[in-house]
Amino acid sequence: MKKEINRKEFVEKSIGFMVMGILAPFISKGSELFQNEKKIKIGLIGCGSVSGMYLPHLSKSNYVEIVSVCDIIPERASRAAKNFKVPNQYTHIDQLLAGAPFDLLVNLTNMQEHGRLNRQALLARKHVWSEKPMANTYQEGKALLDLAKQQGVRIWGAPAVVNSPQFAYMANAIKNGKIGRVAAAHAHYGHLGPTWSAFFYEKGGGSLPDLGVYNLATLTGLLGPAKSVMAMTSIITPERMVDDKGKIKVEAEDNAMVLMEHTNGVLSHVQCGFNYFDPYGHEGEGQDKPTISIWGTKGNLQLIGYDWAPFGVDVATTENEKTIRESTRHDTYAWEEGASVISESIAMGTEPLIAAEHALHVLEVIEAARESQATGKRIPITSTFKFPISK
Ligand SMILES: NC(=O)c1ccc[n+]([C@@H]2O[C@H](COP(=O)([O-])OP(=O)(O)OC[C@H]3O[C@@H](n4cnc5c(N)ncnc54)[C@H](O)[C@@H]3O)[C@@H](O)[C@H]2O)c1
Repeated sequence: MKKEINRKEFVEKSIGFMVMGILAPFISKGSELFQNEKKIKIGLIGCGSVSGMYLPHLSKSNYVEIVSVCDIIPERASRAAKNFKVPNQYTHIDQLLAGAPFDLLVNLTNMQEHGRLNRQALLARKHVWSEKPMANTYQEGKALLDLAKQQGVRIWGAPAVVNSPQFAYMANAIKNGKIGRVAAAHAHYGHLGPTWSAFFYEKGGGSLPDLGVYNLATLTGLLGPAKSVMAMTSIITPERMVDDKGKIKVEAEDNAMVLMEHTNGVLSHVQCGFNYFDPYGHEGEGQDKPTISIWGTKGNLQLIGYDWAPFGVDVATTENEKTIRESTRHDTYAWEEGASVISESIAMGTEPLIAAEHALHVLEVIEAARESQATGKRIPITSTFKFPISK
């Protein structure tokens, strides 16, 4: 059993649901990208830990051609290029954008870099798939979405949790009234924190945008947009040792409790942190307990496994009080599939379930949670997204 996360080990070890909708209006004339073109050319930036999951997934996609990789650490770009036979490698976004033409930027850099790099790519009329968060603030993220529209391209952000069959099962169960009137929900996700990079603990990092983001996307995705948020956050471990900078001061929250108010009085709670002993390790293998619970007047739903790696939904209803396990397929969804799914959507002219507006809503909730901690107040949420999320 793994108690600590080791970057090297992780790197070494290391189609979704579609709804019809035409992307053509978003494809600019000047863009290299045309509808029905089957392979989307990708420029991937950030060849660190998570690229060890993305690159194999993208490489297997029939809709993807990885044209370039880029990292400010040259050895990382060259290792990725060599391992995945990528013809071009760069050490700066300017070179990447000026180099071999591509359609979609896949941004896997430090969280604090996302807004700036995504903006540069949009200005260069590239579509963008961004790891979470899409930007440092909701306002910055909203400006990116507006810019994308002006530029005739699209932007999407992780996570991809709405693509799992278990999410679909729960969304349909709620929509069809299987659990009656929904009242409350709880979600949790935590481990002992990444050991490889300081940015997770620096300003703009934190357990909310790294871990809580999954649960916040799942619960808002299932229960609807949040109307207001109250939260408490704290720092449990003020100093850490990390591979890239040695001993560092922890500046961003590593412990968080967030309460959300949805419509019709539905209340939910998310807890996340970098100080949770977690016998399942970074990859969540063997996690067979509920991590998301939803309670209604006629039934309860429990998502088994993490929402980014789920493998069942335990269901108890008034009609069948004995809990039964439903939706047990776990070979059709992978958390690292976002950029591959988006590439297929662009190539096929279909609209993915993942929506930029949802990612931005979650970003606003995260910011509101921090504001609530700072002020002791309940914070209203202004953004929304297309709900319900279903095929
Ligand atoms: N590691 C995971 O398991 C995991 C899982 C899901 C999501 N994520 C997300 O993926 C992102 C990256 O995380 P990671 O764990 O891979 O971090 P990492 O530190 O291992 O990798 C980040 C890489 O980006 C490079 N980089 C930073 N700034 C750059 C810039 N301006 N231009 C080019 N390259 C730059 C760094 O040199 C580094 O190689 C984060 O948003 C994280 O939340 C990580």
